[in-house]
Amino acid sequence: MEEIVLEIEDLSKTYKVTKKQQKVMNTTKREIKAVENLSFKLYKGEIFCLLGNNGAGKTTTLRMISTLIEPRSGTIKMNGNLIEENKNLVKEKIGFLTTELKLDDFFTPNYLFDFFGKMYHMNKEEISKRKEKLFNILGIDRFAEVKIKKLSTGMRQKVSIAISLVHNPEIIIFDEPTNGLDIVTTREIVVFLKTLKEEGKTILISTHIFDVVDKLADRVGIMVNGKLVYCENYREIVRENRLIEDIFFEVFEEEKNRILR
Ligand SMILES: Nc1ncnc2c1ncn2[C@@H]1O[C@H](COP(=O)(O)OP(=O)(O)OP(=O)(O)O)[C@@H](O)[C@H]1O
Ligand SMILES: [Mg+2]
Repeated sequence: MEEIVLEIEDLSKTYKVTKKQQKVMNTTKREIKAVENLSFKLYKGEIFCLLGNNGAGKTTTLRMISTLIEPRSGTIKMNGNLIEENKNLVKEKIGFLTTELKLDDFFTPNYLFDFFGKMYHMNKEEISKRKEKLFNILGIDRFAEVKIKKLSTGMRQKVSIAISLVHNPEIIIFDEPTNGLDIVTTREIVVFLKTLKEEGKTILISTHIFDVVDKLADRVGIMVNGKLVYCENYREIVRENRLIEDIFFEVFEEEKNRILR
């Protein structure tokens, strides 16, 4: 039996819409259903890729799993334990990367890494060992003393990735890890994620890039309008000689038409 690391069951989230947002979005709706009755499992050692159009609910889902926001209903279990009752354990076990987190412009990668290491109660030696490894793999060493504001988008992203993994978490949740990156840095991050998988980590990422899915996915989920409308083994997709891109647009159109009907 495969070991279940995360179990998401019937998860829903709604956001209140402010008057101002109503105007911007040209709607009278008071609430947005960002995630609706979402269920899926994450197995140990796999890479699960979550696809979905803008606003599908990917970030909301990943933030709920990382306990940054609370669901309206449903449950999330990590290794069989409810995450809301084990927030400290979640912090310890999960490494979360989000597009919303901005590194402070005036600090250096070196300083920030140490800062986050201390936040995780790591001692100097542990931090420095971890830093050496991650900075080396991600090619950050040369830039370790350069202020964030002087770094390129790709280098900043790699620093964010290093920081999110400072505590060597078992479960890695990356929201669009290759967002805005060129093909070279994207490849580097893809290769890096593969090495993490080889180390036995369990990985959940969201992405808009089919190529990233092709290179990494053990399983693929597609979200549309807050719902997981598709979930399949990548091997099965290959076996059926199908392209994830075709499947995406198929299920996307289907869901759109279903709503219009
Ligand atoms: N803090 C918030 N307050 C109100 N509505 C929100 C908030 N965050 C997200 N939403 C809404 O919830 C829905 C889902 O958003 P979410 O950011 O989870 O989508 P996403 O799949 O990550 O999209 P993207 O691909 O653009 O990152 C969207 O309709 C969005 O406008
Ligand atoms: Mg998002």
